[in-house]
Amino acid sequence: MSEPASEPSAQSQYVLPGRPVIGILHPGVMGAAVGSALKPVAGAVIWAAAGRSVTTSKRAELADLVGVPDLPELARRADVIISVCPPEAARDVAEQVAAALGDRPERPLYVDANAVSPATVRGIAELLGPDHVVDGAIIGPPAWEPGRTVLWLSGAASPVVAGLFEGSPFTARLLDGGVGAASGLKACFALQSKALPTIWLAMVEAARAFGVQDALRDELTRTGVDLAAALDGVDARATGKAWRWVGEMQEAGDALAGVGVPDGFSRAAAEMYRRMADADPVDRANIWGLRGGAV
Ligand SMILES: NC(=O)c1ccc[n+]([C@@H]2O[C@H](COP(=O)([O-])OP(=O)(O)OC[C@H]3O[C@@H](n4cnc5c(N)ncnc54)[C@H](OP(=O)(O)O)[C@@H]3O)[C@@H](O)[C@H]2O)c1
Repeated sequence: MSEPASEPSAQSQYVLPGRPVIGILHPGVMGAAVGSALKPVAGAVIWAAAGRSVTTSKRAELADLVGVPDLPELARRADVIISVCPPEAARDVAEQVAAALGDRPERPLYVDANAVSPATVRGIAELLGPDHVVDGAIIGPPAWEPGRTVLWLSGAASPVVAGLFEGSPFTARLLDGGVGAASGLKACFALQSKALPTIWLAMVEAARAFGVQDALRDELTRTGVDLAAALDGVDARATGKAWRWVGEMQEAGDALAGVGVPDGFSRAAAEMYRRMADADPVDRANIWGLRGGAV
């Protein structure tokens, strides 16, 4: 199911074994879906148990992934490593892999599929070797059936990675521009999907501070804006994820700043998600009127 959008600028030297061992760091909600999608083409899809929560272990078990004791063991065994973790941990995970590999001559292919800035993924490519790193950006929900989620890939070895996802629930698509292009795309998309909706939270919080919340709601209703629906939409999408979107929005801000575009939208979104993640549910309802409550 891979759909090349365009050819990458450089061809890869990579030839994977017929059924590669694929390591997932780590089987979160998305990582478990990625690991499961790759089982048909892999000799084994492995994950590293050390340091992970019971929730992650259960997810890995449900997805029928093979546990190994720790990350160094995973790094030693894997032909391909896919990093799918909170964006702020992406560099740290790559450093752990680099340390585990030491000067092993056969380097695994490393896919950073996190919502990080182009600078972060390029730094990871410098660390692990530019020819060995593919930049990935997942747009859509954890994919258990085809049609909703695209894995964008850039970097010389991206066709090799796209090949692994053929026929899987993830549609792999290739981007020109080398390592950094896929992450740049994700940062742009996230302006719409994650930064834009936080305008509602900032607006309502400011209206409460000015004591004009009722007048604001009246004006919005009068002009055809359904504030409750907008707030419910933010809440439904961000509940349980707001903590992770703080890091993602900071990385998106770094991405924009890196190309001279104002990064304030992304930084403000990071702050709104931080407030959302830190607030208890009653405070959230009081501050933002989430889930249809009063403004
Ligand atoms: N979920 C989505 O809909 C979605 C959509 C598009 C892209 N993505 C991308 O996928 C990535 C992961 O998202 P997710 O939904 O799978 O998140 P998640 O369910 O929270 O899972 C994160 C995984 O990373 C592990 N982890 C947590 N803190 C870590 C740390 N400091 N260092 C290393 N690993 C750590 C967690 O393990 P423990 O909890 O066991 O410690 C868990 O296994 C993100 O980069 C995100 O942008 C997700």
